[in-house]
Amino acid sequence: MARIAQRAPGTQDILPADQPYWEAMEAAAKDQAARFGYQRIETPVYETTDLFVRGVGEGTDIVTKEMYSFTDRGGRSLTLRPEGTAPIVRAYFDAGMQVEPQPVRLFYIGPFFRAERPQAGRFHQFHQFGIETIGDASPLLDVEAIVLGWNWFAGLDIGGVTLHLNSIGDEVCRPAYRELLREYFRPHLATLSETSRARFEKNPLRLFDSKDPNDEPLKRNAPRIVDHLCGPCAEAFRLVKEGLTARGIPFELDPNLVRGLDYYTRTVFEYHHESLGGAQNSLGGGGRYDGLAAALGYRSTPGVGFAMGMERAAIILKQSKPLTPPAPDVYAVALEASDELHVFHLASTLRARRISVVFDPSPSRLDTKLRKAVKRGARVALIVGPEEREKNQVVIRDLRLKTQTSVAERELLSTVGQMLGGA
Ligand code: HAM
Repeated sequence: MARIAQRAPGTQDILPADQPYWEAMEAAAKDQAARFGYQRIETPVYETTDLFVRGVGEGTDIVTKEMYSFTDRGGRSLTLRPEGTAPIVRAYFDAGMQVEPQPVRLFYIGPFFRAERPQAGRFHQFHQFGIETIGDASPLLDVEAIVLGWNWFAGLDIGGVTLHLNSIGDEVCRPAYRELLREYFRPHLATLSETSRARFEKNPLRLFDSKDPNDEPLKRNAPRIVDHLCGPCAEAFRLVKEGLTARGIPFELDPNLVRGLDYYTRTVFEYHHESLGGAQNSLGGGGRYDGLAAALGYRSTPGVGFAMGMERAAIILKQSKPLTPPAPDVYAVALEASDELHVFHLASTLRARRISVVFDPSPSRLDTKLRKAVKRGARVALIVGPEEREKNQVVIRDLRLKTQTSVAERELLSTVGQMLGGA
């Protein structure tokens, strides 16, 4: 047994120094959600396994290789949620949201779990900010989702994002296209990678996900689904492109973009960032999923949404924009143990006025405590010793200017308030 307990592989601690980035991401998410009228929803971190098998799809990598599933005491198979869309569609019907005015606009922030091989930007537990718009098939809602995501990056000052866009048709045009792809790839089966050969049978669209350089030339010359869309899918895609162009959002048409979850129909998109590099360059992705509700056994209901990978966004934020955790206003110290309770009480008085105070109970010398105060980033030190106690005074030290004054205790609040106000 290891001598010291280990962090589970593929997990991360989000430490105090990381928190400003996470708070910024969450604030930007709430800001965009509010502007577009999206309401927050939180679903459980685990669901019945069946939800993901039916929703995400039996043959997908997520379901076949990446789920954390377990059996509970009642013999039910449960799974730590690998994604949020299927759970939210379930919750939409569970809560009777289909009878509310449509579409229902929801957003979520929380942890997700996938047993993928951990590497830079890929974790077993990761976090997503996502949105789902359920109950209306308008292509303008696809545009809305894409714009909201785009604005989230802009709100965080994350530059260098490229938007990849494709349409993968629907149950009307996709079956014929699938056959066309099989015909195209069939003569080359022997030269395809093993993974691609398996995908050829199960879902030939996923051949475009192949990372094998040998498959590249074949992929490049393959028939593109956008050339084989049925009338309504082609019209919807035209409207999405028109909407994005009108909003001034640049996009790259990417015929290789098929996404790894089975529920997508029509529009699919991903936000990429070059600095993430390689296979993990996707900051977020989403699309329309008009068949998902029916696949889960509910009345057929259209939906569209995306999810952003927050660990990946944090990597970029850290590179581009140093943020520091908030510092306390005041650092409170007593010179003698007998004065500590009094200082503790003065600190409470300040806190009642929304001034943040860190109380230092250590028996160390004053200069050591003041060094700690500076290190913590405090603006002001509050110091009380026997002399001050006797005169009902306190010493207030400006830690930046390195000056200090003694003031009457009853003037503590106004003096500190003035110093902070003038900061
Ligand atoms: P997804 O593409 O599977 O889509 O995941 C969205 C984002 O989550 C990815 O672009 C990536 O940034 C992040 N992500 C995924 N797996 C990991 C991992 N193992 N470690 C770190 N980050 C990861 C979905 O989940 C869909 N539910 C999105 C959606 C919403 N589609 C429609 N509505």
